[in-house]
Amino acid sequence: MSSNTAKVDVVLGLQWGDEGKGKIVDVLARKYNIIARFQGGPNAGHSIQSEGRSFVLHSVPSGIFREGTDNIIGGGVVLDPIIFQKECSELEKLGVPVRERIRISKKAHLITPTHRIIDAASEASKGKSKIGSTLKGIGPTYMDKTGRNGLRVGDILASDFQARFEALKKKHIAFLKQFDYTYDPDTDVEAWMAAVDYLRTFDLVDGEYYINDRLKSGCSVLAEGAQGSMLDVDFGSYPFVTSSTTTCSGACLGLGVAPSSIGNVYGIFKAYCTRVGSGPFPTELFDGTGEELRRQGHEFGATTGRPRRTGWLDMVALKYAVMLNGVTGLIMMKADVMDTFDTIKVAEGYIVDGKRQDSVPFDTYAEVIPVYREFKGWKCDLSKIRDERDLPAEFKEYIAYIEKETGVPITVISLGPDRAETIFRE
Ligand code: IMO
Ligand code: MG
Repeated sequence: MSSNTAKVDVVLGLQWGDEGKGKIVDVLARKYNIIARFQGGPNAGHSIQSEGRSFVLHSVPSGIFREGTDNIIGGGVVLDPIIFQKECSELEKLGVPVRERIRISKKAHLITPTHRIIDAASEASKGKSKIGSTLKGIGPTYMDKTGRNGLRVGDILASDFQARFEALKKKHIAFLKQFDYTYDPDTDVEAWMAAVDYLRTFDLVDGEYYINDRLKSGCSVLAEGAQGSMLDVDFGSYPFVTSSTTTCSGACLGLGVAPSSIGNVYGIFKAYCTRVGSGPFPTELFDGTGEELRRQGHEFGATTGRPRRTGWLDMVALKYAVMLNGVTGLIMMKADVMDTFDTIKVAEGYIVDGKRQDSVPFDTYAEVIPVYREFKGWKCDLSKIRDERDLPAEFKEYIAYIEKETGVPITVISLGPDRAETIFRE
């Protein structure tokens, strides 16, 4: 590699998603030439708020509002043309030149209408053990990818694309026979085809060549993770996970860059925890405090509108995610939500089967009792603070504890949704 080859920095969620990736990527974007999504799809909901404007991105990278920033949808992503078109049309209405700013890897897989139907049928069949999928067709699309049946973005340029689409639809109809599920196989097909026509007007690229060429010429890249480490298909609370690699190695897979190209890894976490959908959540609160976190933190899904489950910070899970991702800098979100709390708790260990352990158990269904450490609340309005030196002592103690436990510095503290409500500690 030549000495001026740039690195890919990665920013990703360390918990169960919804850590605030949209805001942080938007804030960091000015330092990068390229922002790239590497996995996931429209199950993501990345909220950006600036200058009184609020926007939720599902497929488009969060660098879209920055002039001169290139946004890449990498090959590891699954793309629903209908959702993409809708999102881009809304951005265009705001005057964002989407075709100028977005490139899409030909290797990204397409979510078809029947993928969404399979997602719904499969969830309905699971009854109580349902995953709580966003029903965007994510799982079935990744299944077709690894099952070697999938359709890719580059395929839309082929003359027999229509026939390939019909062939996949036929397979899906056969697959759906196992479920006791009523559906119309033609749902959204017309709109989907129209959205594919729209997709053809974009710059479809060989993403791996595109990004490596740009790196060689010194362009800096920020890879934007979706979901969170605890939803990773390999390392999350399986089977209550999403279907992609949400951890750092997913950036290599989804963009086609070598592990040695990875530079800084920024891990985003909330000062407490949330989760949407089913699955283990050891520190979950079912009391007034949990309700307070949800109310003050506006913890309702950006993609599905579902109320999020809430709980205390889980240090066992956080340290696990730091380990898996090789996090070099932590970014802490939303501590301001706990401004009025007298006491703040953090789980620093678990009791499983009557024994203390400091690791995430293999058994997803194991009963886990958290062992808490208590902190005194800071009881003041953090959101107004712009200078680190003005932070209250109790809050400083909380962040010092997290840094000591994880062994990683907290480089950014976000204390509100706006770009301005951010403290940089580097
Ligand atoms: P962002 O990028 C939070 C959850 C779903 C469900 C599980 C599987 O906004 O942080 P899927 O639709 O992927 O098959 O659902 O994963 N989930 C998310 N939770 N934030 C997300 O994305 C999520 N994307 C998926 O709720 O439990
Ligand atoms: Mg979200």
